[in-house]
Amino acid sequence: MSDCPNSSLPEFAFIGRSNVGKSSLINMICNRNKLANTSNKPGKTRLLNYFVINEAWHLVDMPGYGYAKVSKKDRKDWLKFSQTYFKKRKNLVLAFVLIDSRHKLQQVDLDFMIWLNENFVPFTIIFTKTDKLGKAALQKTLTNFNSQLSEYWEILPHSIISSSVDKRGRDEILDFISKSAIQFKTLHK
Ligand code: GTP
Ligand code: MG
Repeated sequence: MSDCPNSSLPEFAFIGRSNVGKSSLINMICNRNKLANTSNKPGKTRLLNYFVINEAWHLVDMPGYGYAKVSKKDRKDWLKFSQTYFKKRKNLVLAFVLIDSRHKLQQVDLDFMIWLNENFVPFTIIFTKTDKLGKAALQKTLTNFNSQLSEYWEILPHSIISSSVDKRGRDEILDFISKSAIQFKTLHK
């Protein structure tokens, strides 16, 4: 934690399974291809990577969880420091939990969201890689996903649909971040 920037700027963290598209999404939001390092090999991001945007807020690219090909020790270490970060980071506004829109609800994602909820960490879901699905297939997976989630929560978490390839969701994410950042600054004056 002591390596995190000593700053009170509102902070937004991007978390999700390895390879879900966290780093690609940060690049897409920032309109920069090579700001965050991406790879088709899971386990690329290994640290908390900080990006200061317009000197107004931080985006934090986090290592992924739950990928079998990442060593057990790395997975354990990353989960531990991610959880410490979520519990301790005072200027964290919210976490974006990225979910691959092609898959049904996975146990690791559910476990992680339950953990966030139990630890009072606000989060929003971002569905990624929607360019890989047709309209009907996307609608079907989202309906299934929400009905699975509604077995655990009466009120479903807020969610945004995105693609780093066709930039879907960019305006909505940026708008959401700016509004949440303003709210955070007002509350912490
Ligand atoms: P780790 O750092 O390993 O946890 O992965 P990550 O979640 O940061 O994923 P990353 O952004 O590195 O992307 C993983 C792979 O998915 C790369 O090959 C990306 O090109 C691809 N990818 C990411 N987002 C999208 C998307 O919206 N659409 C498509 N078609 N591919 C994507
Ligand atoms: Mg990454």
